[in-house]
Amino acid sequence: MSQPIQIAVVGSGYVGLVAAVCFAEIGHRVVCVDNDQKKVAALQSGDTLIHEKHLPQLLERYRNTGVRFTTDLGEATRQCDAIFIAVGTPQGENGDADLSYVEAVACEIARSLTSYKVIVEKSTVPVYTNEWIRRSIERNGVARSLFDVASNPEFLREGTAVSDFLHPDRIVVGADSEPAAALLATIYAPLTSGAYYKRPEAIAGACSAAPPPLLHTSAKSAEIVKHASNAFLALKISFINAVSNLCEATDANIEQVARGMGLDTRIGPRFLRPGIGYGGSCFPKDVAAFRSVAEQLGVDFNLLTEVEKINAEQKKRFLAKVRSALWTLRGKRIAVLGLAFKGETDDIRESPAIDLVEMLLAEGCTIAAYDPAAMKRSMAEMPASQHLCYAEDAYAAARDADALLVLTDWREFVALDLQRLYTAMRYPIVIDGRNLFDPKTMQQHGFTYISIGRPAVYPVRDLELAASAAQ
Ligand code: UGA
Repeated sequence: MSQPIQIAVVGSGYVGLVAAVCFAEIGHRVVCVDNDQKKVAALQSGDTLIHEKHLPQLLERYRNTGVRFTTDLGEATRQCDAIFIAVGTPQGENGDADLSYVEAVACEIARSLTSYKVIVEKSTVPVYTNEWIRRSIERNGVARSLFDVASNPEFLREGTAVSDFLHPDRIVVGADSEPAAALLATIYAPLTSGAYYKRPEAIAGACSAAPPPLLHTSAKSAEIVKHASNAFLALKISFINAVSNLCEATDANIEQVARGMGLDTRIGPRFLRPGIGYGGSCFPKDVAAFRSVAEQLGVDFNLLTEVEKINAEQKKRFLAKVRSALWTLRGKRIAVLGLAFKGETDDIRESPAIDLVEMLLAEGCTIAAYDPAAMKRSMAEMPASQHLCYAEDAYAAARDADALLVLTDWREFVALDLQRLYTAMRYPIVIDGRNLFDPKTMQQHGFTYISIGRPAVYPVRDLELAASAAQ
């Protein structure tokens, strides 16, 4: 095994916690720092705090050995060679990223810097943050020779975070100094050399076939790579959503169109799934931050404003679909499947599903919602009330419903017993914001089925009645 490095990871959110256990998994010694004492205590006792595959297993393996959890950043700074900053960069008032947590961490690190360290920004940050971190550390009286700042953006997705970290498409190291680049290359060597993937207990994934490339760039380029990647993916989703609207206007089928586009290797088939708009803690915030950076630098990037506009419209269009299927909304009983911003996660931050539930409640609907993992978080944000209840499963949510809405792409929903769902509902109307079901199958099961960018289908019985009425 290559040389273990002493690593501090500051922040124990999705990126920080996953990075910490994964660095331990590839052989390093890690201290994970968070200023939230409660979080640190929970992690020390083995609570992962987030719903993420492989995380419980890795936390169990390394907790309090390969990974220690602490609130003491000063001590972690003194002990470690590399300090990764993975704290939140929430959206500020004008869309720009709020970097106050990053600055606070940089200043605190500065107070404990007595020997050479590489400070690595892993949070998603705007271009020039690297320089600001360097300046704040220098302003706190630290000699330039005692540290370097590098950028190492993270591209993991929630739901597949651990395997994304260990099997990345690429590792981007933005470092303007050789020692910093060399240290980061050593840290990632178990992945880039392929050594990790040969271990029998390694977590399997795409890189088991070919190790990931490490791309060395300038710090500024690395910062832009991250923002530009997220903005481009968001653009791809808004683009396909706009095309799906065109399909609806022409009775074409978005699945066929997306497949026809995606087979072009220059476009690729991924991120061409239409829906109710992107959400989550990254895309909305990062598109806004990237737009704001461009604005501040005098660069016209109005394309991003359009991306955001299409995304917001997509939710309104979905609400209009519900209205046109049910005529009036007040007093209607709606079953909602899915509250998380996407499947396989319990995260509801910027979830379009939550926005839609709020819009439907405002229209006077009564909602029975079910999500396999996100109900606890949803209840904290939208407590159960006379008009909103949380059901124990999809069938209970569907009971006596005037319509059922699919708002999150959980794999569990695809396997639902359609016959049971049909029997539970008052009117068998399904409005699917994630295109999880095959229209023909839904039709055969007696549903009116309305989805995104595909012609609506009606129960065979209704069609026969309509045909005989026309004779
Ligand atoms: C995203 C990026 O995919 C990661 O590469 C990045 O590291 C991460 O943000 C971040 O910056 O930390 P994530 O937010 O976990 O990851 O979720 P995605 O899987 O990218 O999905 C984002 C949203 O787009 C979800 O609401 C999802 O439902 C939606 N989506 C995705 C679509 O509507 N259509 C698609 O084809 C794909």
